[in-house]
Amino acid sequence: MEHHSSDLRASALWKGIILGTLGISIFFAPALMRAQVAGNGAPVRYLPDLKVWVLDTARTSYIIGVNERNELQNLYWGEKLVSDHDFFAAHSRPEHASFDSSETMTNNEYPGWGGKYYNEPSLKLTLADGDRDLVLKYASQEIHANRLVIRLKDIQYDLFVNLTYTVFAQEDIIRKQAEIQNRTSQVVTVESAQSGVWYVPRGEGYRLTYLTGRWAGETQLTREPIEPGKKVLESRRGNTSGQMNPWFAIDERGEADEEHGRVWFGALGWSGNWKLTVEDTPPAHQVRVTGGYNDFDFSCPLKPGESLSTPPYYGGFSSQGFGEASRLMHRFERDEILPDHAHPHVRPVMYNSWEATEFNVDEAGQKALAEKAAKLGVELFVMDDGWFGQRNNDRAGLGDWFVNRQKFPNGLKPLISYVNRLGMDFGLWFEPEMVNPDSDLYRKHPDWVMNFPGRPRSEARHQLVLNMARDDVKEYIFSVLDKMLSENNIKYIKWDMNRHFSEPGWPEAPVPEQKEIWVKYVRNVYWIMDHLRAAHPQLEIESCSGGGGRVDLGVLERVDEVWTSDDTEAFDRLRIQEGFSFAYPPKVMSAWVTDVPNLNGRSTPLTFRFLVAMQGSLGIGANLNKWSSDDFALATQMVNTYKSIRATVQEGDLYRLYSPREGNLTANEYVSADGKQAVVFAFLHSQQFLWPAPTINLRGLEENALYRIKTIDNKLIVPPGLNPENGVSGSFLVHHGLNLDLRGDYDSTLVILEKLD
Ligand code: DGJ
Repeated sequence: MEHHSSDLRASALWKGIILGTLGISIFFAPALMRAQVAGNGAPVRYLPDLKVWVLDTARTSYIIGVNERNELQNLYWGEKLVSDHDFFAAHSRPEHASFDSSETMTNNEYPGWGGKYYNEPSLKLTLADGDRDLVLKYASQEIHANRLVIRLKDIQYDLFVNLTYTVFAQEDIIRKQAEIQNRTSQVVTVESAQSGVWYVPRGEGYRLTYLTGRWAGETQLTREPIEPGKKVLESRRGNTSGQMNPWFAIDERGEADEEHGRVWFGALGWSGNWKLTVEDTPPAHQVRVTGGYNDFDFSCPLKPGESLSTPPYYGGFSSQGFGEASRLMHRFERDEILPDHAHPHVRPVMYNSWEATEFNVDEAGQKALAEKAAKLGVELFVMDDGWFGQRNNDRAGLGDWFVNRQKFPNGLKPLISYVNRLGMDFGLWFEPEMVNPDSDLYRKHPDWVMNFPGRPRSEARHQLVLNMARDDVKEYIFSVLDKMLSENNIKYIKWDMNRHFSEPGWPEAPVPEQKEIWVKYVRNVYWIMDHLRAAHPQLEIESCSGGGGRVDLGVLERVDEVWTSDDTEAFDRLRIQEGFSFAYPPKVMSAWVTDVPNLNGRSTPLTFRFLVAMQGSLGIGANLNKWSSDDFALATQMVNTYKSIRATVQEGDLYRLYSPREGNLTANEYVSADGKQAVVFAFLHSQQFLWPAPTINLRGLEENALYRIKTIDNKLIVPPGLNPENGVSGSFLVHHGLNLDLRGDYDSTLVILEKLD
């Protein structure tokens, strides 16, 4: 995928110098445009008579045009418009009164803050001469297959914005990205740099769906009506955060459900301070969602010749409800975003030592766990926190990425080769961005943490944040990780981050550039991940921030899996995982089976715990030393079953049939990409009065095909005369549905359907 290599460049040059060749020619290219018009079915077409661009995906159209004021205006986003006869030229909306200008009433694709513009701007800046007025007009365009670049220019200054639209036709998704170029002869300070705006059709009564949460309670689906005014979803914490996730969906009057209704959705690819501003602008009554860098404490001075790129901002549309919206996102993430998108492979079954041993890791203890894990069929053994420096608890050691010789007298090699001999890959935990004040690294380089001189350095979990925006810190961290990977057979890094920024000072940088810390930090983290992967092509990375605090489409270009939540309690997980699945694919959703009673005191049966975790990328995080032989027997069977269905779970289509937010039953179905297998997970939360579980009507099956039904137990209620072994029609499964004999508290089952030829 092209944007990986360009991202490598971008991370080095987030505020790049414009080379002569980088600027896009600002004169028209009529021959190119005519060729595009003629090309029916092209993802990007220009209609020169109308000055309109049509961005077509398989099922949607996104249309923009240049209006009579020469502004770039959004004209349409939704179901595909099939006839060119229907297209119309852009024309601004009239002013409402002297208070509400035409500029503010009109759907400007990338409004600068200036003139009579009062909505959330896409770009706000101050020139060195004090001018703060920015009015962007259309300058030129280029089309390259599925990519459209539109160049805007200020009405006076040589300030340019290149808007790049990339069309992902099969997934009905479009990516927007902006590059702000200063070609003036003075410094321009960017105060807000957004990637763009998504407009939904002017309507009535829209509803916003988004993901909120906290540590051990991430990705909670939240819904509310969109009222006039502004709703800001954001992170000001330095990373993506578990408090809000940069994803949204909008439907009309709250009427869309899993199967029906129009849903517009979007997401940002950025793991630092981000902002999504959802507005219903009076008096236009226009719902719009602006997204990009958070402008809070943001400032980026661009010297003459410098440029600034914004994060990718993705948008998609589904006419078949939230279920299809999620499936489009999942497909897009698997096909275009994840590191293995070109050569997809299923995620291995993982064991992680954290909940079993916490900081008490040593060679003998880890070997004992590894031996037991291997017997269960585990394929990747990950040693978590505690293996380095003086790391006996969370008060010391972070930053000292050297093997603790009391715990591992001969280094990690004996453990790693033992794990490899057992047939498993080896993974290791790091928290590269952090130091404990009680560490050799901090004693040597106290200036390496972000700080304001003379002010407190606030600790959280007894740790401080390294200023990764500094290139010397970035290079040091890269070199220690690179060395560990070069000297040991480490296949997988769990990259953790257990606190947010505080006192984000960068005293070594010139004062006007110090606020760049927010962006440069993230670019450098990306840089390290990208360069580690380039230097160690087999490496896989997990993104963790005390759970699901760094999950977004930016980090997902660089990591294979994410830690969903430190809340591993299976019943809670149903909610967390459901929210996660609205935006992100099951394949990357790391889900462990852990011991009971869990932190919240709840105990659920081992089968229930396994089936919950088997809906994502299965891991085991239990203390295997305490498991009985019955537990081992059941777990071995479950791991085997998982391996027989994981391609369907990880690479298939997810249908959320019953939500844990709504009733006593949760049910999810996954249908394999080739349609040959479907699996249904069902969980009864708590039964009262022997009330039977509701019928489960399946989705995504061929009505005329026959499916052989297998279960892991005898909980399928088979109507007399029906023989699940001989096959049951898709029509029956969809319309009549399945009935399951689930009883009591935390009962669960798995149904596997194989299509008969
Ligand atoms: C927080 C993570 O979420 C846990 O899984 C574990 O890795 C700990 N950090 C280790 O300190």
